[in-house]
Amino acid sequence: MDISNYKTYISSETMMGPNSIRILAELVDKYPLQFVPDDIILDLGCGTGLTSLVIAKETKAKVIANDLWISAEDNGKRFAKWGVKDQVTPMCEDANHLHFERKQFRALISIDSYHYFAGFKGFFQEKILPFVKDNGTVLIGIPGLKDEYTGRSKELLSDWLGDDAYMFKSPKHWRELIGSGDRIESVTTWEMDCFSKAWDDWLAVNNRFAQNDKQHFETIIKPYTCFVGIYIKVKKAS
Ligand SMILES: C[S@@+](CC[C@H](N)C(=O)[O-])C[C@H]1O[C@@H](n2cnc3c(N)ncnc32)[C@H](O)[C@@H]1O
Repeated sequence: MDISNYKTYISSETMMGPNSIRILAELVDKYPLQFVPDDIILDLGCGTGLTSLVIAKETKAKVIANDLWISAEDNGKRFAKWGVKDQVTPMCEDANHLHFERKQFRALISIDSYHYFAGFKGFFQEKILPFVKDNGTVLIGIPGLKDEYTGRSKELLSDWLGDDAYMFKSPKHWRELIGSGDRIESVTTWEMDCFSKAWDDWLAVNNRFAQNDKQHFETIIKPYTCFVGIYIKVKKAS
């Protein structure tokens, strides 16, 4: 995926953390997705909808752009401005209580948000998997701990993240949390390559969140954290 096509959409207004388009690009370059226009993809925790725009442009499929903190109205206005309102539908639902039809999505993609709500055993299988079609794909990119620091997030990250430090888990730990089940063919987790570039783009943004992260980058973020990639393949219908 050529991320330079999307430069004009990336700004301090649309960014909510390390460059979400770089994270998305690494996921879809590693696990290319092929869709037909009737397929539906869920972008879960889409924030301002940057990734929803890119998913729509790259796949030509329909996209449901769901987020909790950003209203469907605000995202709807952005999708209209970006010329994708007929392809991308904004929604505002808590990922803990989604109201979709079962087996609706050919793919579910979630960038820099899954760690806020999904970090315990059983979540994926109870709250997410029912909505994914047989033979579907799940791609997730989230900040986490490097494998060698598994289980030490509170000790290592609290000065930066306070009470939210527990959300950062290693690739190994996420693999265990997702687990296995009747409908899961495979789960792969890894430390992503896009870490430095995605962070560089965010630290260059002039807002108080980025500036706060900047203060902790060299001492905490860079030595202990990574971006965790998660690829889940759902079994074909039996
Ligand atoms: C750091 S922002 C990232 C947004 C966007 N994906 C990006 O990378 O720019 C985290 C997002 O997670 C979403 N989120 C957190 N908890 C959620 C929940 N329970 N259900 C749905 N979305 C949630 C928030 O609404 C927020 O927009």
